[in-house]
Amino acid sequence: MTYAIRPMTGDDWAAVIAVAGSLAGWFSETGVASIRVDVRHQEGFVATDRGEIVGFLTIGACRDEDVDRATTGEIWGIYLAPSYWRKGIGRFLCGQAEKMLASRGFSVATLWVLEKNVQGRRFYEAMGFAADGVTKEIDLGARLVAVRYSKRLHTEEG
Ligand SMILES: CC(C)(COP(=O)(O)OP(=O)(O)OC[C@H]1O[C@@H](n2cnc3c(N)ncnc32)[C@H](O)[C@@H]1OP(=O)(O)O)[C@@H](O)C(=O)NCCC(=O)NCCS
Repeated sequence: MTYAIRPMTGDDWAAVIAVAGSLAGWFSETGVASIRVDVRHQEGFVATDRGEIVGFLTIGACRDEDVDRATTGEIWGIYLAPSYWRKGIGRFLCGQAEKMLASRGFSVATLWVLEKNVQGRRFYEAMGFAADGVTKEIDLGARLVAVRYSKRLHTEEG
């Protein structure tokens, strides 16, 4: 394994923007700008391959009002540059995200993924997440449907 994860720093910002920019169609210009705002409210991590930033991960408390926020964390996003897809890096980042959320006291992890993002949905399903039946409309220039997934985390209490 040549890839690793470490906390995102201000110096990583240009590389994170480059990863977001490589995901044509995923981020509008305003979407890219919003990552910076999001990182202020979340913990950000970068995935590196031989020191080069190839993706990023953001986690935090769940942003939804219909869950117990004391026990529910959220994977806000996992994004990899396309040339690094399907090499197991997403699986590695998701596992790290689950461990970090569990270590912060959360027993459940949720995430939102666009309904039409079949690749993302298959990925999270392969990671053991299941749609919990909650959907919402979000405005990313066009109004799109997002689907919530959740998973019980392995905690020391079991
Ligand atoms: C979704 C994403 C994070 C997955 O990361 P990845 O490193 O490509 O995924 P992995 O190689 O770890 O795949 C793990 C498993 O997920 C499933 N999976 C991943 N990509 C898939 C695809 N395109 N179609 C079907 N299943 C897929 C497979 O079961 C895979 O296991 P396998 O390769 O042994 O068959 C990555 O494709 C990505 O950054 N996509 C763009 C951004 C995005 O949609 N993020 C999710 C919403 S926040």
